[in-house]
Amino acid sequence: SDPFPFYGEHQAGIVTPAQDRLHFVAFDVTTSEKAELVDLLQEWTAAAARLTQGREAGAFGAVGGAAEAAPDDTGEALGLPASGLTLTIGFGASLFDERFGLAGKRPAALAALPKFPGEQLIPEISGGDICVQACAHDPQVAVHAIRNLARIGFGKVSVRWSQLGFGRTSSTSRAQATPRNLMGFKDGTNNMKLEDADLVREQLWATAQDGSAWMAGGSYLVTRKIRMMVETWDRTSLAEQEQIFGRNKGEGAPLGKKAEFDLLDFAAKGADGQPHIKDDAHVRLAHPSFHGNAHLLRRGYNFVDGSDGLGRLDAGLFFIAYQRDPRKQFVPVQLSLAKSDPLNEYIKHVSSGLFACPPGVRDAGDYWGRPLF
Ligand code: HEM
Repeated sequence: SDPFPFYGEHQAGIVTPAQDRLHFVAFDVTTSEKAELVDLLQEWTAAAARLTQGREAGAFGAVGGAAEAAPDDTGEALGLPASGLTLTIGFGASLFDERFGLAGKRPAALAALPKFPGEQLIPEISGGDICVQACAHDPQVAVHAIRNLARIGFGKVSVRWSQLGFGRTSSTSRAQATPRNLMGFKDGTNNMKLEDADLVREQLWATAQDGSAWMAGGSYLVTRKIRMMVETWDRTSLAEQEQIFGRNKGEGAPLGKKAEFDLLDFAAKGADGQPHIKDDAHVRLAHPSFHGNAHLLRRGYNFVDGSDGLGRLDAGLFFIAYQRDPRKQFVPVQLSLAKSDPLNEYIKHVSSGLFACPPGVRDAGDYWGRPLF
């Protein structure tokens, strides 16, 4: 398949039909020189433009440079195609502190997320000044891209945390079949999709009128690493599992309905007089109709980071959601989930990130985040 274009009005990797593999990284900026940061963003942009088209990170490549110098590509993707690679950058709130004189440009929508009931966030794997999301059909290609950005950034940024993901847990296009998460349920059925042009315009892309002109055409990214207690889940009855989500496991159909894309009807009752979909079902608590029509573009991935030494898989969902304003979208939805979702018995939020993803890079003279600097 053809590579996804790197240049455009919006960054790739948001409405791009979700690829199967993820390597997500958060960096801390270690230089205190704004000029060095801008240089790095320019170098990264040039490398990303090459990598996403299936080329090596630098002009000389893994073996074409001087024998005395370290290669300008690490080599492990030699011979591999672009594999649908997209690279998407975002800026965390901490980048807007006093170091680079950007405080006045911090978007209001980048306000710290509230503390949600029950979360157990680990600071070392949360936050970060800059994030890069690499998605591809081949994990080697995604890892190669992140590794080369880290290599290029040596001395200016350091890796704060990174996360591998496999098996997308959302469709972002109607052309894609809905995949399954590690609880075995179809995930992404009622997601915002690139074909929903009106929703995408209203609810995904920031505009200059939103208050930060440099973010026009950009979007806000929330990440949550959500550990699943899969062993407990696997001893839960099928009926209970289905009631927790409000959809059946086989088809992903709303309870009381037959097919995956049948509409949710929260008023419909069964013969026992009880609603088919319980009042605290996940799809009801998260539904836009209870949050002022707030939608999210979910783009998460399954993860298994080996096991935890206590006989349990260290597994779960690396939740990723894009939106125009997290204060109106992610926050109210997550507040109601954190408060009432019976799923909470089986999950634990352990990391959190919030990033402002700038608009797309227009052409070879442009670079990631230019309107900010
Ligand atoms: C829907 C699973 C966390 C927001 C769903 C569905 C499943 C699911 C199976 C139904 C299919 C679909 O429409 O996509 C999970 C699991 C989670 C999780 C296993 C944690 C491990 C979250 C979080 C949020 C969220 C943290 C946002 C704060 C939504 C939304 C919907 C949804 C907005 C669509 C509701 C609708 O409009 O029908 N989720 N989810 N989910 N989830 Fe989650």
